[in-house]
Amino acid sequence: MKSFLFILLLASAVISIIGMNEKQMKAAVKLVTNMCLQKTKATSEDIEKMHKGDWDVDHTAMCYMYCALNSYKLINKNNTLNYEAAMNQLGELPERYRDSAQQCTDQCRDAVVSLNEKCTAAYELAKCMYFCNPQKYFLP
Ligand SMILES: *[C@@H]1O[C@H](CO)[C@@H](O)[C@H](O)[C@H]1NC(C)=O
Repeated sequence: MKSFLFILLLASAVISIIGMNEKQMKAAVKLVTNMCLQKTKATSEDIEKMHKGDWDVDHTAMCYMYCALNSYKLINKNNTLNYEAAMNQLGELPERYRDSAQQCTDQCRDAVVSLNEKCTAAYELAKCMYFCNPQKYFLP
């Protein structure tokens, strides 16, 4: 029993150092997807479209993206990217996502054009992240 607890402790220490594995990341993403789908009444069709590179979606889907980015605290009150929060969370990503996430966060730092509309702002930001590297896109 004692050694089991020790292993558990060790495992959680390792996770906090090397970050989540892919399965944990997918689970965390799914949680936000479900919560934001419910909250915004966006359709899963629109969410799937965005994941496949078709960003021709309605305003509800843009508000879904705001809900998603906001739940990771990635969007500032003035609707710009919260770069510091993004950098802090980078280390928690599975290793194979980190370089791309770093590069795309830098590239999309000023992607928001519609600063006065939070849903459109979040959409512009997420869209930039997608086209920066579609293979490594992981937002909900
Ligand atoms: C938005 O807010 C952030 C953090 O408070 C700040 O660093 C940034 O300069 C602001 N950007 C604009 C365009 O107001």
